[in-house]
Amino acid sequence: MATPPNILVTGGAGFIGSHVVRRFVTKYPELRIVNLDALTYAGNLENLRDIEDAPNYAFVKADICDAKAVEQVFQEQAIDAVIHLAAESHVDRSISDPMAFVNTNVIGTVTLLNAARGAWKDGDAGHLFYHVSTDEVYGSLHDDSFFLETTPYDPQSPYSASKASSDHFVRAYGNTYGLPFVISNCSNNYGSHQFPEKLIPLMIHNIQQRKPLPVYGKGENVRDWLWVEDHAAAIDVVFHKGRNGETYNVGGHNEWRNIDLVQLLCKVMDRKLGRSEGESAKLITYVTDRAGHDLRYAIDAGKIERELGWRPSITFEEGLDRTVDWYLQNAEWLEHVTSGAYRDYYQAQYGQR
Ligand SMILES: NC(=O)c1ccc[n+]([C@@H]2O[C@H](COP(=O)([O-])OP(=O)(O)OC[C@H]3O[C@@H](n4cnc5c(N)ncnc54)[C@H](O)[C@@H]3O)[C@@H](O)[C@H]2O)c1
Repeated sequence: MATPPNILVTGGAGFIGSHVVRRFVTKYPELRIVNLDALTYAGNLENLRDIEDAPNYAFVKADICDAKAVEQVFQEQAIDAVIHLAAESHVDRSISDPMAFVNTNVIGTVTLLNAARGAWKDGDAGHLFYHVSTDEVYGSLHDDSFFLETTPYDPQSPYSASKASSDHFVRAYGNTYGLPFVISNCSNNYGSHQFPEKLIPLMIHNIQQRKPLPVYGKGENVRDWLWVEDHAAAIDVVFHKGRNGETYNVGGHNEWRNIDLVQLLCKVMDRKLGRSEGESAKLITYVTDRAGHDLRYAIDAGKIERELGWRPSITFEEGLDRTVDWYLQNAEWLEHVTSGAYRDYYQAQYGQR
């Protein structure tokens, strides 16, 4: 590897990506982190305001589908390794616009793979293409079993089909061209800086505003939830210690039915907002179920614990408490995101550069 190693993080202005960038920039001053992000509606540079002037951090605005731009970044920044998170990530959006998911998640990933393959011709053992993926590639569980790394892929939504496809391409490039890679498949994340279209921040926002709390179907779908900073820690461990060609499932050992989760959030918010118990739960409104809604996802995260020593660091109650506090204390962030003002930040911060 060149010195200092240059790590390309794609999608670093998004929810999980911003936590990964912050962790790497602050924990590893000896690494240089290049954040490549197209700044779609989900990309928000305000997420990284606290580290944007760090000497080992650089931001590049580019689309991962733009082969020329991506190749240029690999060359100019002498990229040694990739942590690939850029994606269209919201299942509901994939139902209304599947092509956007094919473009970014499949074509974008292959474009990055091609750039890595083109740039890493020297056989240097230091290279790595790390694809951050989802447990949704495994499909829906209808019994009490868990997803293992060996569970056959059975994606059910355009989102999960596009992520499954990108996982397959990463493995195919490893197998065909010898590209060093790792993949991790993680369950639902929650925490600070999440765009309020996803369940937990949406509910926090609506509870605060006394707006209806839309729950799909009867709220019986089960998801495993992991605190985003624990996911960032897992990514750190997989990046540094994961074995070439391996897959690691990442999860919180923390399954919740959607309706129970929303009830819990209402309770926590009632307490924090000084409302009487049960007040916020009255806002719950059942809406027509999502098309093809997977019933249950559940991760067996035993391999990453056994082999790499990672496990979640905090309980769900602690994580939820911290998350609610963050949204309540960062009303300005939420206001900018919901009003669209966050889009002006790039222009103000980088427009002149
Ligand atoms: N959120 C979860 O619960 C979860 C769970 C498991 C895995 N994942 C995976 O983790 C990754 C990050 O998820 P997230 O929730 O942080 O997503 P996000 O939607 O919050 O962020 C995605 C980021 O990618 C950027 N992006 C989108 N299209 C791009 C393109 N064409 N070129 C460059 N940048 C582009 C966006 O601007 C944004 O900053 C995704 O790959 C997702 O599939 C997410």
